Amino acid sequence: MKSKLSIDLAELRLANPAMLAAGILGMTSFSLKRVAEAGAGAVVTKSVGLKPRMGYPNPTVTQAEGGVLNAMGLPNPGIDYFAEEIRKTKSTVNCPVITSIYGFSAEEYAKIGKKAEEAGTDALELNVSCPHVEKVGCEIGQDPKILKTIVKTVKKNVSIPVFVKLTPNVTNIIEFAKTAEEGGADAVTAINTVRAMAINVETKRPILGNKLGGLSGPAIKPIALRCVYEIYPEVKVPIIGCGGIRSWRDAVEFILAGATAVQVGTAISFEGPEVFQSIKKGIEAYLKKEKHGSVREIVGLAHRG
Ligand code: SIN
Repeated sequence: MKSKLSIDLAELRLANPAMLAAGILGMTSFSLKRVAEAGAGAVVTKSVGLKPRMGYPNPTVTQAEGGVLNAMGLPNPGIDYFAEEIRKTKSTVNCPVITSIYGFSAEEYAKIGKKAEEAGTDALELNVSCPHVEKVGCEIGQDPKILKTIVKTVKKNVSIPVFVKLTPNVTNIIEFAKTAEEGGADAVTAINTVRAMAINVETKRPILGNKLGGLSGPAIKPIALRCVYEIYPEVKVPIIGCGGIRSWRDAVEFILAGATAVQVGTAISFEGPEVFQSIKKGIEAYLKKEKHGSVREIVGLAHRG
């Protein structure tokens, strides 16, 4: 039976549309379980690659006006180790588990995707949008030809749904959403962080160890919302809205713009996983007040003429 809050995302059924975004509390089965128990409709892991990776030197995170600036450098233990965390997560949570993956070639993405599938993940989210790691991330997501090859190759090698997390660091995000769809993506996530930086006026140097990073949080919400709104009429696959969502009101804005589900990341660093309960309750109260029967009913309503 479908509840008012439940949504279908590709082949996945989510009890509510608020998902954990990649990169926050996503590295261990323990933290993923904590988020699932707090009420997330699905959880997305931190991005995992083929081999272990140290990431960048500190500082990797700094506060910015209206958000957070990070350049972690994709630190992760590699898929062979992480597969065990996927298995453990799957055996302890009762919501879909999505593994975020990155790679340095289409074949690498496919290899990691297959291993994650074998470990029991319910879907993959291809990180083709990290704004600051060379030869991976948005260097891929900014090249339609490479993007399509990667999505196609992964799709050929796995049978679970494949989502593609898009970068906002392009002139026309619609082109990339369409490319991902043409490659066979089952959904697109819009957006990853916005390429940004901060400088310490005393040391007269960039603050982040990597100098450049990605901005997340409320400051990027209007950009993310615009991206979802622009993509919605142009693709048939569902859109997962991501960027600065911290309240039910933000979540509803994204759904009205065309998102089927939303991801919450930075807000968790400030408010903890409890934010999922308040988003869920708020959406439920909104549907009741506005006399809508379900979340599905309000997807894309802001596009009415
Ligand atoms: C990081 O690990 O540096 C962030 C990954 C991302 O922004 O995709």
